Amino acid sequence: MTVMLQARISDKIHFLGFNDRRTHLFENLWPIPRGVSYNSYLITDEKIAVVDTVDKQFTDEFLDQLEILTGNRPVDYLIINHMEPDHSGALQALVARYPSIILVGNKKTFGLVESFSRKPVRIFEVGDNDRLDLGFHTLLFRTIPMVHWPETMVTFEPNLGLLFSGDAFGSFGTLDGAVFDDELDPGFLEPEMMRYFTNIVGKYSAHTRRAIAKLGDWEIKTIAPVHGPVWRSNPGWVIGRYDRWSSHDPEKGVVIVYGTMYGHTQQMAELLARRLVERGIREIRVYDASKTHLSYLINDVFRFRGFIAGSCAYNNELFPPVQALIQALGHMGLKNHLLGIFGNFLWSGGGVKNLLPFADNPGWELVHEPVEEKGALRAETAGALQRLADAMAERLG
Ligand code: FEO
Repeated sequence: MTVMLQARISDKIHFLGFNDRRTHLFENLWPIPRGVSYNSYLITDEKIAVVDTVDKQFTDEFLDQLEILTGNRPVDYLIINHMEPDHSGALQALVARYPSIILVGNKKTFGLVESFSRKPVRIFEVGDNDRLDLGFHTLLFRTIPMVHWPETMVTFEPNLGLLFSGDAFGSFGTLDGAVFDDELDPGFLEPEMMRYFTNIVGKYSAHTRRAIAKLGDWEIKTIAPVHGPVWRSNPGWVIGRYDRWSSHDPEKGVVIVYGTMYGHTQQMAELLARRLVERGIREIRVYDASKTHLSYLINDVFRFRGFIAGSCAYNNELFPPVQALIQALGHMGLKNHLLGIFGNFLWSGGGVKNLLPFADNPGWELVHEPVEEKGALRAETAGALQRLADAMAERLG
């Protein structure tokens, strides 16, 4: 019984995808409660080409379906837009089944092929704007480094205006019967698409913007990414989302994340949230860092301009879940963000003093001096928290 998704993009171009609803953590790190799809593409021209493969778990069925669709003709080329294993998982098996296959990649691709398995035998190295003629179809290539690995490139079929985009313009979320954007509700997909962007590609926002600019002279009519739907009706929708998210122009709103053991830091967070509402802020998210996965915290901090971080002291350090968030955010290069800091301790500090260095990151503006309490909240500290919330609301405008 097949679990593979198949659809035709054109007479000779097939979509071959798998829905992964079993994996809990993408990259063994990011929760995917709504799953993810791995998309590969087959071009059956005078020469036969496969564009990227799929995750290793789907290798057997992927190869079987290729054999059916190609009518037992050998596959001539494997275009490797991206070597991360969710797309190169079937590479070695493909080479084993089609020993004459030529691997097509750029100068950074083949070292990664060797790192994962062995030195490739037959390769065709391409650079920006190089061509590969398959018969009716011509493929053009351009690198888009760091979207999402150094070797990443895209492949363009100019007759159809079809862009094989790799991770770019991809999304978490399975394809529940749909393959094309006009077969689903993009609004339902958007939160998972944004979390995919902020978790996987967001750190490379500048590279994403360079990639979008680099592809600007191609007349793109359809985008075929390796995750999520094929965008044939409205590719501008997904390009627009990626453009907006990578622009570091966050929305008006505040994320409050706190770490607490005995509830004192939560008490401070609740007061901050209430005051922000009184000051007219409507987009407020309050999270206990122990309960909400880092993936969602990163996503919302990325999304909203205001971030107020609170931590209790833990062995003179930050509370570990808050530490993990702060460390992750420090690597993301966010810009145009407003910061507030608060904390609590009982016998020794550790929360506020270890949050403060985060304020030195470029792109962050500390809106008020940190507020720290020893144990239960006193009226004087409550007043300071209100002033912190006021300062945040005023800066948000
Ligand atoms: Fe979907 Fe960077 O791999």
